[in-house]
Amino acid sequence: MTTSASMPTPPACTGRVVITGGAGFLGRALTTAFAAQGNPVTVVDRSAHPDPGIRSVVGELTDPGVLAEAVADEDTAGVVHLAAMTSVLGSVEHPVATYQANVAVTQDLLEACRQAGIGRFIMASTNAVIGDVGYATVDEAAPLHPLTPYGASKAAGEMLLSGYAGAYGMATCALRFTNIYGPGMAHKDSFVPRLMRAALAGRGVQIYGDGLQRRDLVHVADAVAAVLAAWDRRFTGTAIIGSGQSVTVLELLDAVRTVTGCALAAEHVAAKPGEMPAVIVDISRAREQLGYRPSVALVDGLATVWQDFAALVTPGAGGSGR
Ligand SMILES: NC(=O)c1ccc[n+]([C@@H]2O[C@H](COP(=O)([O-])OP(=O)(O)OC[C@H]3O[C@@H](n4cnc5c(N)ncnc54)[C@H](O)[C@@H]3O)[C@@H](O)[C@H]2O)c1
Repeated sequence: MTTSASMPTPPACTGRVVITGGAGFLGRALTTAFAAQGNPVTVVDRSAHPDPGIRSVVGELTDPGVLAEAVADEDTAGVVHLAAMTSVLGSVEHPVATYQANVAVTQDLLEACRQAGIGRFIMASTNAVIGDVGYATVDEAAPLHPLTPYGASKAAGEMLLSGYAGAYGMATCALRFTNIYGPGMAHKDSFVPRLMRAALAGRGVQIYGDGLQRRDLVHVADAVAAVLAAWDRRFTGTAIIGSGQSVTVLELLDAVRTVTGCALAAEHVAAKPGEMPAVIVDISRAREQLGYRPSVALVDGLATVWQDFAALVTPGAGGSGR
């Protein structure tokens, strides 16, 4: 079963880690962290990792050749599976492609690991597997009730992981992240980068509905720490990874105003149909079983994003490049 926080942390596993989606937002930060603790890393993504010292397998994970090459190294100890079709709205438009990218690829990767004797498998999941529970606080016992193909594909992935743990003794785990934010997210279209872009341009922002929707934002450094803990402890099962503190969209807007010094005028527009009123999570399991301690306060974390965005438009300053 899972390792409890009262038990000593086992010695770090220094084998190779394959990070799918390792050229993306979370993947880049995670690659850096694994490499820093001495794990050789293989990144599998549509584009190469910017560090030429990192082994990159470039291609589509739906291509069996790419998948085989990804897990070919004999020193591979495990896979962190981040590559996914990540857009909720895109998944509604393209449910079949979402199934292929998020479910079939997960199955194929698990099977490739089983065949190769690779015993660790961590998948990035989401609280969207739960669906709309109003203002209730969600823990891992909440029933799965996804409301979009994206949420359904992640729930299906979680079930595949559970089956491979049960049948083959693999240490498989799904980490259900809330909204991750931090440096390196300039290519994303989520609320934090939209606010940062508006601040840079001196524009206002649209707020859907009254802005009292509650969200949990977790800094990428904390998300990375959770993955490393799950890896080191061979955690098996499911854990919610968030900050454990929800804020309203209006509070988030105020925090961004504080950090950027920009007025960011708010224009309230009609709420999007199906938007969840709240994401409020209980992170006790991650605290107890992973020793997870979110450490980045929202205003400090937003400052790291603002620095990153500002560097992207300041000649000579080095941003994270995406
Ligand atoms: N960012 C968040 O707020 C958040 C929240 C919950 C869960 N997640 C999950 O975390 C993971 C990482 O998210 P992210 O924000 O870093 O996303 P991202 O879009 O920045 O990175 C995803 C990477 O995966 C690659 N990829 C996708 N499909 C691929 C395929 N078929 N073959 C090869 N490469 C492929 C993309 O090229 C991209 O570099 C995803 O699984 C996402 O669902 C993210």
